[in-house]
Amino acid sequence: MVRKTLIAGNWKMNGLLEDGLALAKDVALEAKKRGYKNCEFLVCPPFTLLSTVKKALRGSKVALGAQDCHTATSGAHTGDVSPQMLKDLGCSYVIVGHSERRANHHETSALVCQKAESAHAAGLKAIICIGETESERDSGKTIAVCQKQIKESVPSDATAQNTVIAYEPVWAIGTGKTPTVADVAEVHGAIRAAISQKLGKAVASQMRILYGGSVKPSNAAQLLSLKDVDGGLIGGASLKASDFMGIADAVCQK
Ligand code: 13P
Repeated sequence: MVRKTLIAGNWKMNGLLEDGLALAKDVALEAKKRGYKNCEFLVCPPFTLLSTVKKALRGSKVALGAQDCHTATSGAHTGDVSPQMLKDLGCSYVIVGHSERRANHHETSALVCQKAESAHAAGLKAIICIGETESERDSGKTIAVCQKQIKESVPSDATAQNTVIAYEPVWAIGTGKTPTVADVAEVHGAIRAAISQKLGKAVASQMRILYGGSVKPSNAAQLLSLKDVDGGLIGGASLKASDFMGIADAVCQK
């Protein structure tokens, strides 16, 4: 089985009804026009836009995902959203463990692991985010940090079908800074090795590993075309359909 490239947009806390709808329609239209065979598209709008965007994506090949979920199915968790609720709305993916949630909401790898497991139980694919901070990189700990995060954040029920890994160096998110191509290649290789250690070689060879952090149309070809890079998790550049599609154009083929 060939790993299908995934071009995923994380809209973060952006978009009101009107612009969210317009963006989703543009993405759906442009994705349809291109008809890339080896690429899958995904948009992850904020919770408030999921229903609206779902309608706009109807009949298109663009999948819908959320940016976080709770571990429980339902219950007394004010302000939280369960994976079942996301599935009910038409989501097929959910991002868990984004560095902004790890940092701003004190999410641990153990919690991220539980979230991924709950997402799987609800029939969602989990995009599990990992990545080192700037000080961890500066002290030469990048590989060790990523391997530890894989070990602790990926549940044992993870398969290549229900799980995607996103490597997002924290210092590269929204900064315009990116690792070198050699660094990305090295870290992705190490991540695949860590997956192999945890889940076996067969699963590791099939599981998609995305790169995220300041990806734009002009650097997408070099960052996303590497052997162990199976697509991108795009923040800022996913908020403009032309930029998002420009990234796809750099890596996808008909
Ligand atoms: P940017 O593309 O804005 O750097 O964000 C990356 C990201 O955090 C995607 O999840």
